[in-house]
Amino acid sequence: MTDSALHPAGGPVATASAYSKINLTLDVFGRRDDGYHNLRSLVIGVDLADHLRCAITSDGGVKLRCSEATLAGSVNLVVRAAAAFGRHCGRRLDLRIDLEKRIPVGGGMGGGSSDAAATLRLCNHLLSAGLDRSTLSTIGAGVGSDVPLFFHLPAAVIAGRGESVEPVALKWSGWVLLAICSEAVSTADVYRAWRPADSKSMLRGLDAEAAAATTADELSAMLSNHLEPAVFRVSQAVEGAYETLRRLGCSTVRVSGAGSTLYQLFDERDAACRVAGEIERLGTGIRALVVAAPVGESPIVET
Ligand code: C5P
Repeated sequence: MTDSALHPAGGPVATASAYSKINLTLDVFGRRDDGYHNLRSLVIGVDLADHLRCAITSDGGVKLRCSEATLAGSVNLVVRAAAAFGRHCGRRLDLRIDLEKRIPVGGGMGGGSSDAAATLRLCNHLLSAGLDRSTLSTIGAGVGSDVPLFFHLPAAVIAGRGESVEPVALKWSGWVLLAICSEAVSTADVYRAWRPADSKSMLRGLDAEAAAATTADELSAMLSNHLEPAVFRVSQAVEGAYETLRRLGCSTVRVSGAGSTLYQLFDERDAACRVAGEIERLGTGIRALVVAAPVGESPIVET
């Protein structure tokens, strides 16, 4: 894409990466009257990112082009975030946004929410609106439950329906093996499939201890995801991938959030890459990636 194509009005263009997340712990407490579920989760950013370019145009509202054509409509959280930003500032926005997807859709890695948070940061920058992080996070909460957390990474504990966020200092850093199933899982379907009994037998309340763990083994012993049985009920493909990883020796593999991505933590990159190679060799259609964690927020670059 040429710069003039992105720059029709000769205005500024800015780019940002939108990192993804995994949930190290995810305790679910119950369904609320508004249909959402109260939860508590320790979340970290991981180095798998979508990329956004945003240009101010002369008119035409907010236009989104996306590397995955099916995601380019007005329901995309990027468009909804830009609209929410415009409403907050009481002004009409004329923007062209290009979104290159890398984060799996429906993968429980917060891709859409991270894209929305990056959009709010880009709007704030390009329009020199001067909104602080907490205001951007509050605008984000109206776009989706997971959007605020992307203003508080590399590590944070989220609570409520996800809108209450506290940054935390995570002692561990290392490598995450991601096993990405091709099947997208709907967050709403997973929450609907959750049963209180799913949470009863699981570890809970370990987010503070998990944040203090220093090795992958120590941290992995505290991982839990109360939505995991519900994800398996919704998707046999994810359950199959989970069993495949267990057979390959990933004894503490976990599902991330309400999605179809599985992960295992490693201190050494080589060890993670060895398992990734084995997964790829099996040819089961599961995509394996090794990424660094935790990561925070990418800088905005003006071009
Ligand atoms: O807030 P968001 O639109 O991302 O949530 C998608 C869906 O996930 C909600 O409509 C709801 O069904 C479910 N959800 C939930 N409890 C949460 C977060 C999401 O039940 N804490």
